[in-house]
Amino acid sequence: MKGKIAVVPGDGIGPEICRSAVDVLDAVNKRFVHEITTFEGKAGGEAFEKSGKHLPEETIDICEKADAILFGAVGGPVDAQEKPKWKDAEKHVILGLRKKFDLFANLRPLRVWPGTESFSALKPELVKDMDVLIVRELVSGIYFGRHERVDTQTAEDVSRYSKDEIERVLRVAFDAAASRRKKLTVVDKANVLETSRLWREVANAVKKDFPAVEMEFMFVDNAAMQLVRNPAQFDVIVTENMFGDILSDLGGAIVGSLGLLPSASLNARKFGLYEPSHGSAPDIAGKGIANPTAQILSLALLLRYTYNLHKEADAIEAAILAAWNAGEKTKDLGGALSTDEFTACVVKKLAA
Ligand code: IPM
Ligand code: MG
Repeated sequence: MKGKIAVVPGDGIGPEICRSAVDVLDAVNKRFVHEITTFEGKAGGEAFEKSGKHLPEETIDICEKADAILFGAVGGPVDAQEKPKWKDAEKHVILGLRKKFDLFANLRPLRVWPGTESFSALKPELVKDMDVLIVRELVSGIYFGRHERVDTQTAEDVSRYSKDEIERVLRVAFDAAASRRKKLTVVDKANVLETSRLWREVANAVKKDFPAVEMEFMFVDNAAMQLVRNPAQFDVIVTENMFGDILSDLGGAIVGSLGLLPSASLNARKFGLYEPSHGSAPDIAGKGIANPTAQILSLALLLRYTYNLHKEADAIEAAILAAWNAGEKTKDLGGALSTDEFTACVVKKLAA
């Protein structure tokens, strides 16, 4: 098949790990005889220096013309956040793209692959075969409500959800659960928040269309504890923007490294942006030590969701696993390989 992907590497380690993913895409093209090409768009600090904008129109154009976006990371060093080059870069680019393309369904799979249990912060027996999917609402809630400095002593952030916004992301989550182990946990804070009570109302209504899926409600504080105590009890978790942000970082610690977590953000016509769940890690940028796994797995999600290329996505996941099982690991996982060396191992396994 033919395809067109917009690659937006961004800042920090973004360019090096996107290069890895593009190398892997080349290997997939060869092995499965596809012609999926890539076009690069700039975003973040470098884009700001060239154009005065963190998310230039030109980049949005490139994204609009593509089948999907493969995104790296943006953001500068912690001590330079107030410089114009970096100020609000993440907000402008990441939240900008999410809103621009109405990418309301953020899928963050938490998978512990066989042989990687020791990467986890939890006991290996707790995470063995873990396969949980977090579905996070991504374009509404407190992230996109009114943010205001009421006066010098007071600030306000508004969390707002409409029924439609809740229903569409719940349907994505129910669909996912229906094709998996048929259990959906709706995470909220309905003992306090009115938006959560609306989520429950809508969830009870949507549930009627999915008789085969078992649905439960869980408060977010309890969900955080349950994820650490017994992650195997979950199949699909669906939740609002802010809770999903927090629970997915917790998920990163459970899987073992943020460097392993891919994500997909989809809209109603299944156009998607695929990115690692981690940031731009400026402290290790350019050193060749970044783990490209989350970026490569994000490419696998892209092939799966945008093109329905399941064999190809499976092959990428299998190649990463085969590399690890052969002891080929980057430094964050206790190995000795550089970003490029690990990528070359994955490419070689794909070609075999
Ligand atoms: C994420 C990130 C973003 C978010 C930041 C960078 C705005 O933490 O994708 O989880 O909070 O959504
Ligand atoms: Mg986050």
